Amino acid sequence: MILEHNASIAPKIRAILVPVVLSAILLPQLYQPFLSALWHFLQTNAIFRLSVFETLWTVFLYAAIEVPMTIVFLRHPEWRFAVRESQKINAKGSSGENALARPRGMRRPSRRLREIAIYMAPLLLMDLTMIKKFADVPLEQMLESGNYHITFATTQTNDTSTSPYPKTFLVPTLHNITFSSPLQTQRALPKNPPTSRRIVLELALSFFIYDFLFFLFHFSLHILPGIKSWHAPHHRHSEIHPQVTNQLHIIERLGLVLLANFSLNIIGSHVFTRTLFVPIFLWLLVEIHSGLDLPWGYDKILPTGWGGGARKHALHHAGAGGCYEPYFAFWDGLLERWSRCAVSDT
Ligand SMILES: *[C@@H]1O[C@H](CO)[C@@H](O)[C@H](O)[C@H]1NC(C)=O
Ligand SMILES: [Zn+2]
Repeated sequence: MILEHNASIAPKIRAILVPVVLSAILLPQLYQPFLSALWHFLQTNAIFRLSVFETLWTVFLYAAIEVPMTIVFLRHPEWRFAVRESQKINAKGSSGENALARPRGMRRPSRRLREIAIYMAPLLLMDLTMIKKFADVPLEQMLESGNYHITFATTQTNDTSTSPYPKTFLVPTLHNITFSSPLQTQRALPKNPPTSRRIVLELALSFFIYDFLFFLFHFSLHILPGIKSWHAPHHRHSEIHPQVTNQLHIIERLGLVLLANFSLNIIGSHVFTRTLFVPIFLWLLVEIHSGLDLPWGYDKILPTGWGGGARKHALHHAGAGGCYEPYFAFWDGLLERWSRCAVSDT
């Protein structure tokens, strides 16, 4: 094995992350003053209170992550799995000259406004018409944000345990559309900040749940004849590159967003956890589509064998069977063992 000078980046990142995560779980009081101040700021921030905040946050972060990753992709051909493959072929005598070319289907940022609009339209529609229901928010406040003005006897105490309305997080409720309030513009936020322990555990659990659900969804997209066409736009590229991340049929993209939403809702995540979930989620999503063997790849930071990483996902996109799981490698491992047609691990 050739040791590159930057091969030690991943252990260094791990050396920082492990103490942060452990102390966040074991010593939440360390982080509480900071979290309380931050939550107070966010709670009173006009942009954070908008019902469309998460959609705006997602688009902003996606651009902030994918554009630099595309630049890294263009600047570091030596990290590209496809270039390495073609160099292997080249060494054997055939030509691999096109390998450094820009992969087909790559676009300039200025040409991508339409992509942004198509992404945002259905989500904005939902944001503006459906009541946001978050954990720890009293039902009255949720309904209030949705233009339902119902007063319960328990309003003063914020105790909804005796409320006649169940807290149905998972069932969508339409905004009460009236002339004076045609759209749902605000979201009701929980009063108290989360603890650092809660944030870490909710993040870990929601990623684990999402990873399993998306594995099932992705696997179905590959094997069920009726819905295969929904997945075709995502595999319509030559070499994989970061922009492939968002080359999705609208149904697959909505499925992805709604499964992530569900994974957070089912465990009653705090809104702040949701806010942190987005950058981590997008970072990993762009990374697995980067087609790059990054020295700081998250699969090198996690314990060996936990993360699927960009390599496995590039194999999937290169047409090898398997590797359906987005982030981890647990369920793919089970599936490979079960189907006995594992892709060779090189
Ligand atoms: C995400 O989940 C929340 C909480 O249940 C819900 O209010 C919101 O409408 C969902 N967002 C989307 C885009 O489905
Ligand atoms: Zn696929």
